Amino acid sequence: MPTTKPSLLQNLDHTYDGLGANPIRVFDAEASKILHVIKLSLGEPDFNVPEHVKQAAIASINNDESHYGPSNGWPKLRQAAADFLQDRYDLTYDPNTEVAITVGATEGLHAALDTLLNPGDQVLMPSPTFSLYDQLVRINGAEPVYVDTSSTGFVFTPEQLRAGIAKCDHLKVVLLNFPSNPTGVTYNEAQVTALADVLRDTDIAVISDEIYSELTYEGTHYSFAKALPEQTLLINGVSKSHAMTGWRIGFIAGPAELMRRVSLAHAFNVTSASNPAMAGAYEALSTEAGRQDTLAMKAEYLKRRDFVVKKNAGDGLRHS
Ligand SMILES: Cc1ncc(COP(=O)(O)O)c(C=O)c1O
Repeated sequence: MPTTKPSLLQNLDHTYDGLGANPIRVFDAEASKILHVIKLSLGEPDFNVPEHVKQAAIASINNDESHYGPSNGWPKLRQAAADFLQDRYDLTYDPNTEVAITVGATEGLHAALDTLLNPGDQVLMPSPTFSLYDQLVRINGAEPVYVDTSSTGFVFTPEQLRAGIAKCDHLKVVLLNFPSNPTGVTYNEAQVTALADVLRDTDIAVISDEIYSELTYEGTHYSFAKALPEQTLLINGVSKSHAMTGWRIGFIAGPAELMRRVSLAHAFNVTSASNPAMAGAYEALSTEAGRQDTLAMKAEYLKRRDFVVKKNAGDGLRHS
């Protein structure tokens, strides 16, 4: 008879052993201790959710939309997401087979990586990048590989991409986000196309996290999915565009055969997004008022950006 009871902790999935808490939350907790600092840690808009969006969610509750929603999200919301991608970025997706509504962009990223990765695969990312990606890759037993972009003003160049590909032996995915959190860098059509050209004749998939696409201040956002649709899983959502971070609605779009698998990963993980949140997202994405909300917030962010840039210039700090 053993004298001490064996601990179940010894037998847990070892993937999680080396993972700490979500690093961006750890950093935010530290930054929050400093008084009078402008915090650019969590990508958290300080606007409240617009009133008409709230009312749409309340109506959904009052209408007893309390049952399981369709796994890939309400058809009308998938249509609204597809329309949004078409109107804003000239992207054409079939809402029935190529779009799924996720629990925030994060769950879309998770489902995409779940679908694409086998243990031992590698995921290439320009660095610095959004801190959560590292964990999401490792959870899938894959290896994050970083390409340092500090020498090119944090712009990921085709040369750097080629060099990154050359140093990998099991590369499966390139994971990008632009406009970039944390650097603010974004890419124009020529830059996106040049990166896409490097990947075009390969079997490497691209996950393009464009959750900040609506907060493009200069020029027009040009989606990676426009340049390389057949290899790209595109992530977006309403968290940043409509200050709806806590409502947890994102969407993912890509080629039908890939999306069939992504939808399985999504369904087995979360079943579906919640109905009241989908009602709010539908209102946000499908109405003129929703479009105006984004523009009003963006105008305010632009003022703040210019204030910080000017102040940094005054302090002799470098900025791009
Ligand atoms: C680049 C990037 N992707 C995804 C997310 C998460 O988005 P969501 O809240 O919709 O999951 C964030 C949040 O800050 C982000 O900065």
